[in-house]
Amino acid sequence: MQLIDGKLTSQAIKQEIAAEVQQMAAQGQKKPHLAAILVGNDGGSETYVAAKIKACEEVGFNSSLIRFDASVTEAELLDAVKKLNEDADVDGFIVQLPLPKHISEEKVTEAIDPRKDVDGFHPQNLGRMITGAPAFVSATPQGIMELLKRYQIDTKGKHVVVIGRSNIVGRPMSILLSLKGTPGDATVTVCHSRTANLKELCLQADIIVAALGIPEFLKADMVKDGAVVIDVGTTRVASTETKSGWRLKGDVDFAGVSPKCSYITPVPGGVGPMTIVSLLMNTLKAAKKEIY
Ligand code: GUN
Repeated sequence: MQLIDGKLTSQAIKQEIAAEVQQMAAQGQKKPHLAAILVGNDGGSETYVAAKIKACEEVGFNSSLIRFDASVTEAELLDAVKKLNEDADVDGFIVQLPLPKHISEEKVTEAIDPRKDVDGFHPQNLGRMITGAPAFVSATPQGIMELLKRYQIDTKGKHVVVIGRSNIVGRPMSILLSLKGTPGDATVTVCHSRTANLKELCLQADIIVAALGIPEFLKADMVKDGAVVIDVGTTRVASTETKSGWRLKGDVDFAGVSPKCSYITPVPGGVGPMTIVSLLMNTLKAAKKEIY
């Protein structure tokens, strides 16, 4: 069994990005600039956005944080999106989700200029991704694709079972892996809460992507010998062993499953650290006009 080390990989990618930013600066180009809109003070969102801003600093990007009170109106938020769309200095930006209930996430997401949509949530980017055209791909699926690529995990002709059909992980993951390319060219089965024979399907899988959000859901008796297991779960569970009072649990029963695997991602330190790095990669692509 080999661990897929997302922490190490993400550090290596950050160094690559930092080197490229230095090169851009040496050629007199401006630094890539990521902006983030944060509404309200949800603890999780605060943590994620702070980590994204910190990651920008680490690689030499410029960053801006635009904060709104939870009482902000949809019109005010749409106006802020419009301003960022029109700000030539901003290469890419995100609106951290979830938004308060009185604001339509769909409307806000669709208001973002697809050329600056480094989260890859805009329907234009999703549509392009489905056809295999250049597109901003959302952070988690892109991070997983990067891990598969860098660990040279063979996906061609393999049977991949994706557990979970969310718009930001399961569904894009299933599409990316079925597209032509490396990684890609896989035969993909998408499973979800209504799937009748999940265990049988998982036992046929060469690669399992567990992205359903139920801690330790995938057990050893659902995994065939030599399978590759990608754990996307990040559920916070109470813990007396950490200062914060919680720790992250994946969707995979790591102790039981890992001895059967050829490769497996741990939680924490697997897919998680790759997500922020994916956002940085997208911001660099936006600055270099690589997609549009
Ligand atoms: N909320 C949870 N994950 C994400 C993400 O990747 N992007 C945004 N904008 N909001 C999120």
